[in-house]
Amino acid sequence: MILLSLQLLFKLNSGYTYAPVVHTFLEKYDLKDKTIMPIVTNGGWLGHTIDDIKKYCSNVTNELVLKFDKNKLVTDSSVINKFIE
Ligand SMILES: Cc1cc2nc3c(=O)[nH]c(=O)nc-3n(C[C@H](O)[C@H](O)[C@H](O)COP(=O)(O)O)c2cc1C
Repeated sequence: MILLSLQLLFKLNSGYTYAPVVHTFLEKYDLKDKTIMPIVTNGGWLGHTIDDIKKYCSNVTNELVLKFDKNKLVTDSSVINKFIE
């Protein structure tokens, strides 16, 4: 199987960027030629997460930032629909 694109879904839980496990994944696999669409759940302080991903993935085409307030998704559904299109 050849992986051409990847939707990378993760939750922010390490303060202003992705968790160490995501870092390990990005370091281990060569994603330079892959189309990457990060989907990031967060509490509203995204920090430099997307920039950090772009250091490993030059082909980030689209990103979806899903903001939660406690258990409630506060990102508008129009943002999600636009990402899916
Ligand atoms: C230890 C810890 C660190 C977190 N750091 C961040 C952060 O840096 N930025 C952010 O926006 N949200 C942060 N969050 C909030 C989570 O990303 C947010 O609650 C989650 O994406 C929503 O999923 P949940 O319902 O599983 O909590 C953190 C949460 C935890 C537990």
